[in-house]
Amino acid sequence: MKVTVVGAGNVGATCANVLAHRDFLQEVVLLDIKEGTAEGKALDTWQQAPIDYYSTRVIGVTNDYEKTANSDVVVITSGLPRKPGMSRDDLISTNANIVKSVTENITRHSPDAIIIVVSNPLDVMTYCAFLTAQKDSSKVFGMAGILDTARYRAFLADEIGCSPKDIQAILLGGHGDTMVPLPRYTTVGGIPVTELVAADKLEAIIQRTKVGGGEIVNLLGTSAWYAPGAAAAQMTEAILKDEKRIFPCCAWLTGEYGQKDIYLGVPVILGKNGIEKIIELQLNESEQELLNTSATHVKEVMNVLDNMKVVA
Ligand code: NAI
Ligand code: 2OP
Repeated sequence: MKVTVVGAGNVGATCANVLAHRDFLQEVVLLDIKEGTAEGKALDTWQQAPIDYYSTRVIGVTNDYEKTANSDVVVITSGLPRKPGMSRDDLISTNANIVKSVTENITRHSPDAIIIVVSNPLDVMTYCAFLTAQKDSSKVFGMAGILDTARYRAFLADEIGCSPKDIQAILLGGHGDTMVPLPRYTTVGGIPVTELVAADKLEAIIQRTKVGGGEIVNLLGTSAWYAPGAAAAQMTEAILKDEKRIFPCCAWLTGEYGQKDIYLGVPVILGKNGIEKIIELQLNESEQELLNTSATHVKEVMNVLDNMKVVA
């Protein structure tokens, strides 16, 4: 099994490194346009193998798509990250051109690959890859929900004083400040979260989750990479091991949740065929209203991409 990670920056290099540690792949190709970056990080990861005990070979290349040929999964992380004061949407024009050209190269060399998009603005870059790749939407989707839910779970673990392992949660909507964490579907060791966390504390955690990306940008001057890289690796593993895991992913909706022709975060089953099922929850009125608001925002940015005519 072979995976390509495009973009050997913070997120891409972390994703390749986490995949190597999982030790289930023969080869991971890390590709970047910056001469030496992917090669250097791949070599560093290979030199970590005798210490951490894995056999997966990570190979770094500079824009050489021949080396990515016949990948089973391609993770696209190439593009600019968010800087302080920048919204995810500010990134649209630069990153759309990058994602388009990367997707063209990927589909030429790995026509059957499943594509996981990470580049921001996530929902719209996933749409950009989908339009470019011209393959079934079950094979082109985005990573955001695992990260956003992980932030929510980590904050809850701090508040409750329990292990994050025991927190199960789901979150819907776009990867932005309008995302919709769902307390009604959040449990802690099987116990509804509302029995353990007071309403005002829970609301504060939800608000912190929604701006969780920005919190890290303000601390670091660039966006997060450990959790995002690990999240993309987790999706890759679920697909290639055909695990049928349930994760929130950015998926193409064709009527589910009352939304059509839009990429939006929803729970899905991930297996060897990519998105094997979209799980539709019965939302109450206020949850549906929040999701509709999030969808309206994502649609606006999708329209910006459409009007830019980056993808014919
Ligand atoms: P980074 O700047 O560390 O890495 C980006 C890499 O992409 C650079 O090494 C750059 O040389 C490379 N690149 C640029 N154009 C390229 C091209 N045409 N072909 C191949 N490589 C190219 O950025 P970082 O922190 O790794 O973030 C990457 C992207 O992921 C950003 O758009 C960021 O906003 C997004 N992101 C998304 C998250 C999500 O939850 N979906 C979470 C965190 C980051
Ligand atoms: C994050 O949520 C900025 O999308 C990036 O960390």
